[in-house]
Amino acid sequence: MRKELSLRSFSSFFLISVFLCFSSFDSCNARKSKHLKENRSPPSYTTEGHVGGSSTIFNVLDFNAKGDGTTDNTKAFLDAWTNACKVAGSTVLVPSGSTFLVGPISFSGPNCQPNIIFQLDGTIIAPTGAGQWGSGLLQWLEFTKLKGITIRGGGVIDGRGNVWWARSELDDSQIYADSKMPSTKPTALRFYGSSDVTVTGITIRNSPQCHLKFDSCTGVQVSGVTVSSPGDSPHTDGIHLQNSQDVSILGSNIACGDDCVSIQTGCSNVNIRNVHCGPGHGISIGGLGKDDTKACVSGITVRDSVMHNTLNGVRIKTWQGGSGLVQDVLFSNIQVSEVESPIVIDQFYCDQGKCNNQSAAVALSNIHFEKITGTYTVNPVHLACSDALPCTGITLSAIQLQPLQEGRTMSSPYCWQTYGELLSPNSPPINCLRTGKPSISQGPSDGSC
Ligand SMILES: *[C@@H]1O[C@H](CO)[C@@H](O)[C@H](O)[C@H]1NC(C)=O
Repeated sequence: MRKELSLRSFSSFFLISVFLCFSSFDSCNARKSKHLKENRSPPSYTTEGHVGGSSTIFNVLDFNAKGDGTTDNTKAFLDAWTNACKVAGSTVLVPSGSTFLVGPISFSGPNCQPNIIFQLDGTIIAPTGAGQWGSGLLQWLEFTKLKGITIRGGGVIDGRGNVWWARSELDDSQIYADSKMPSTKPTALRFYGSSDVTVTGITIRNSPQCHLKFDSCTGVQVSGVTVSSPGDSPHTDGIHLQNSQDVSILGSNIACGDDCVSIQTGCSNVNIRNVHCGPGHGISIGGLGKDDTKACVSGITVRDSVMHNTLNGVRIKTWQGGSGLVQDVLFSNIQVSEVESPIVIDQFYCDQGKCNNQSAAVALSNIHFEKITGTYTVNPVHLACSDALPCTGITLSAIQLQPLQEGRTMSSPYCWQTYGELLSPNSPPINCLRTGKPSISQGPSDGSC
């Protein structure tokens, strides 16, 4: 009964928040950031990049940028930024029809006016020579400590990652024998310590590593973004979230070589909807708790999304030995096709050979999988929870998964230390879930956050 009640209040929480934030997304968006966006009337551009009577457009071409694809424009971009930074609601314009080579830049904002727009209509490409990267950098294009920052437009950010991937994947190859890229690979575009962040319309492709990262941000809206890199490019996550709250990722298309979206510790109130993922590793929460760290994640919804030809569909992964809690997660209406493992909880995550089991773990509770349908190639359902801290409040409903090749014998649904309930018949039948509560009293990590 208690479980039903909490499930019901949980679902109504989601219904209400999902209704408010998505069925009328625009008004929700407007309401939420009204105080910041009110004076941001979108300027109308001419091809020259001037706006009628306004001096708030800073076209990189006016700062001596050359869109020839070979001139280094790092200084021109920084000069445009320095000027835009002084004017609230100003625009940095990267015009269309040109390709701008730009080295590592931090668009740093602690002393900037709010609500700057980075209008990206052209293409920005990264340097491919080792010289510009020193001994290795964590990011290429960085926006930090800003209040109200928007990147929008039909432009492209191209990390030209194949010179980096070559190093790790093809070390022995003669072709790449003289590639001297540092071993630390940069994220293409990173936002740090900012509030009211919008990224819309742009394409980010071929990042050396992760494509788009938000760290310590609040109020993040990503929509209509395309991420594109090869399925075999190493560690090229699509969108990576860390220590960020109130995040929406809507209507975006992600193809990459790692997680399409990866949600790390410190994230809450994250809503992901209408995302197309593939190739890639699916949408993941974690890996959490690595090196005995504490992880807290709550209020995550992933819905109305499609995974094609991915390693996983929706997944939560934690390392042995961590602490903290993942709670109130809903995966709903996920269509999978040719996905190895559509539904995964892995509390024994280990990507480096052998990891020992430990008595501490990141706790998992109130995790809901509903209406996950389509075809899989290896495991339909794999729920491996910790011996020390079994998963609780796991529900599954309207799971309809068929092996890709009709009639081939596949693994049956697998559960280990997984407690919860089935809310409807599922296909294949899931008989491994345990009802009630685990008898094991909570261990050294008590699942608090
Ligand atoms: C850890 O525990 C799980 C579940 O009890 C078991 O299947 C697995 O083999 C163990 N791994 C190691 C490395 O001991």
